Parts: sequence; C-alpha cells; structure tokens
Amino acid sequence: MTKVISDIKKFKIQRKSNLFKDKSVGLVPTMGALHEGHLALINKSLIENDITVVSIFVNQTQFNNKEDFKKYPNTFKEDLHKLKKLKVDFVFYPTYEEMYPDNYNYKVIENNFSKILCGKYRPGHFDGVLTVVLKLLNIVKASKAYFGEKDYQQLKLIEGMTKAFFIDTEIIPVPTVRSAEGLALSSRNLRLSDKDKIKAVEFPRILSSGLPIKKIKLLLKQKGFIVEYVEQIDNRLFAAVYLGKVRLIDNVKV
Ligand code: PAJ
Repeated sequence: MTKVISDIKKFKIQRKSNLFKDKSVGLVPTMGALHEGHLALINKSLIENDITVVSIFVNQTQFNNKEDFKKYPNTFKEDLHKLKKLKVDFVFYPTYEEMYPDNYNYKVIENNFSKILCGKYRPGHFDGVLTVVLKLLNIVKASKAYFGEKDYQQLKLIEGMTKAFFIDTEIIPVPTVRSAEGLALSSRNLRLSDKDKIKAVEFPRILSSGLPIKKIKLLLKQKGFIVEYVEQIDNRLFAAVYLGKVRLIDNVKV
C-alpha cells in the first residue's frame, strides 16, 4: 500500500523501523504534475530497489520568477492515483515550513557550472535545486536517486554535489522521455496553448538538425520561438526557448 507522509520526523521514524531493514531504497524527487518522463524514473527505481520513495514538493526556492512558481501546475490527486497504481511504497509530500525550518538561511552554492546556461538566466535557480536535493538525500538516505537527462545541467550539478559532500546515495541518470513527435515531456507543456503545442515540436527537431548554432538560432526565431540560449558544451547542445510565456529547455548529444 502507498503511504503518504508529509512530516519529516514521521518519515525518519519509518526509515529507522524494521520495514527498511536491509532493504535497498530508491528516491525519485519531483515537483509533481507527473507525466511519462517522471514515470520512467519511478519505474526504474521500482525495478532496481526494494522500496521506492517519490517526493512531491514544488520547491519555491528554485523559482527565480514568482509568477512561474504561482502558475506551476498542482495535480496532487491525479499524481497520487498514478503512484498508487504503480505501487510506489512512499510518497513524501512536505510543506515549505517542514523543508525550510531555517527559511532558506542555509544554502548550497556551486560556483562554476551552475552559473552558465540556465543558471545565467535564472539566478539562484540551482542554489535552490541543490539545497532541496541535499535535504531530500539526507532525509531519505536512499541507496539510489533518479534524475532525468532532460535537465542535464541539473543532473551534472547533483552528481557533483554528492561527490563534494561525500553523500552515499548513487545518482542514476535516466534518458529523456519524448512525445511521439519528439518534444521532451515537461510539466510546463501543460501550459502551452493548442497552437503552441504544435509549434513546440519544431524545437527538438531544429536542435537535433546538426546545423551550426547560428543557423539553429535563426530557424528557431523564424518559427516563432524567443531564443534564450543555444550553446554547445563538450559533445552536448543545450537550449532554452520561450513560446509565449512558457519556457522550454532541451539538450541533445552532438
Ligand atoms: P521535475 O521537473 O518535477 O522533474 C523531476 C525529475 O523528472 C527530474 O529529475 C527531471 O529531470 C525528470 N524529468 C522531467 N521530465 C523528464 C523527461 N521528459 N524525461 C526524463 N526525465 C524527466 O527537476 C525537478 O522537478 C526539480 O528540480 C527537483 C529535482 C525535484 C528539485 O526540486
């Protein structure tokens, strides 16, 4: 049976109980509005571990834009239904007060990779991400934690943080899940108008065209995207664009 726990103390009591004794534990951190991308992470955890914990927490501190936080979809009822169907063992669903007893007085800051790409345009975003992930890793003490390559910069920063702070949890990357047309699934896609949903599929198509970056930017603009950045780092092309007020990110191997 799926157990929902909001209280950190209660979770820690369970964590120390016989229920967890000698069991492998998988953690899948999410902000809810679950789609097939999230479910790929959860299914991998269910296969690889005795116990799976899915956290649902819309982490205020990683939103540099208040409006974006306010508009973030909340579909907890549907999410819980999906998690019960998958037989996820625990849903950790804390409040801001639970997660930030210090009101975000303490934070994790990375000084290089977090300052470029998304970090350049969303100041403080990765401080919020790293801080909440460190908290979740400390609470759940999982054997493995699952993160999507859809948010490749986030994945690499989390890997770096666990190394820097000697965290025992192994970070497991999961490939990006896409729609049949190639669009990376994202909770924010829910906010696209019907017209923009059709337009959005051009984003991964153009990004993976193999054309020079200048040409990619031009094509995106011609298709009606507002380009935030398109940049190659090592053998990966990273991009963020806007369709209306909705921000889309993606990355592909080149
Ligand atoms: P969220 O956007 O809800 O994503 C939760 C996890 O699902 C992340 O690891 C993300 O990379 C992964 N994911 C999202 N869409 C995916 C897709 N199409 N294919 C594969 N994986 C996908 O990322 C966050 O939440 C937050 O920053 C969080 C890590 C929970 C910290 O607050």
